[in-house]
Amino acid sequence: MIRRIAVLTSGGDAPGMNAAIRAVVRAGVTNGWETYGVKLGYEGLISGKIFPLGKRDVGGIIQRGGTILGSARCPEFKTEAGQRMAIRSLNEAGIDALVVIGGNGSQAGNLALHRMGFPVAGVASTIDNDLFGSEITIGVDTALNIAIEAIDRLKTTASSHQRAFLLEVMGRNCGYLALMSGIAGGAELVVIPEVDTNPEQIADVLREAYEKGKAHAIVIVAEGATYNAKALDEFFLQHRERLGFELRVTILGHVQRGGSPSAYDRILASRLGAAAITEIAKGNYGVLVGLQKSQIVPTPLEDAVGKKKELDPEMIKLARILD
Ligand code: ADP
Ligand code: F6P
Repeated sequence: MIRRIAVLTSGGDAPGMNAAIRAVVRAGVTNGWETYGVKLGYEGLISGKIFPLGKRDVGGIIQRGGTILGSARCPEFKTEAGQRMAIRSLNEAGIDALVVIGGNGSQAGNLALHRMGFPVAGVASTIDNDLFGSEITIGVDTALNIAIEAIDRLKTTASSHQRAFLLEVMGRNCGYLALMSGIAGGAELVVIPEVDTNPEQIADVLREAYEKGKAHAIVIVAEGATYNAKALDEFFLQHRERLGFELRVTILGHVQRGGSPSAYDRILASRLGAAAITEIAKGNYGVLVGLQKSQIVPTPLEDAVGKKKELDPEMIKLARILD
């Protein structure tokens, strides 16, 4: 019997996390439960930073980026001792079930709590879009929109100077953000961890664009690619003459994670937050709620964490066709 639940955000923040917190709290209250927040992810769980978080407390946050609860990366939680301390804090606060909003690592932590017998549910939230069980995760749409705005802006300055740009985007080990922003931004090439690409191949693409008389060329580089923007910049410093274009490098960095969530992310987060409560109410613990074919679907955390989400090969092909 559930009477009191808690919610936390963990790992890299993502635009839309606040909308998810709001949905968890409001759906929980609608079920007649007491709702609590945990500050600073697993770090706050270990140290007992658990406090009442009611319906009114989550007013006015749907449009805000980041997370009002704060987030953290907490090495101590990877240990059994850390996990036991977290469960002790939850028990001391009288929490019956926990909702974890976060990415791959955070859901691995959630799985550890589930295996120790604590009732949990997970909400798929990371700009990296690397979670099995959800075609798209909270924050991805906003991050993509920021990336394509950057590409559009780079193109205007690039074409004024007949330059090529390498734009590095985030994604950890996953090339999704790079691939999709490359397609949406009309890049000449995307360099992603999933496809081997060496600097010579990139040089050939840039040279060809230059010889065709293009005013600019844009290469999107995933931070997790074998050759990231820094490595490519160092390589091309020695081989400038091969490119034709003058080269500049931009690393987009955390700009991608900041700012207000898009309408898509707010709606996705609202649906997933409420769905986590539905699963807990059904007693279907140990699942990640995600989006599959426009429907909200629960996936066992074992699969969400243990299985690898592959990039759609059709999208990789499309990026090549449209370059
Ligand atoms: P994200 O959730 O964005 O992928 P991280 O990979 O940094 O972010 O993970 C966030 C936190 O989740 C880590 O700092 C750690 O506390 C916890 N975590 C990650 N992996 C594990 C694991 N294998 N077991 C237990 N906890 C983990
Ligand atoms: O997981 C989200 C993410 O933004 C990754 O894309 C990136 O590799 C990492 O977090 C950056 O981590 P930090 O915010 O700790 O620098």
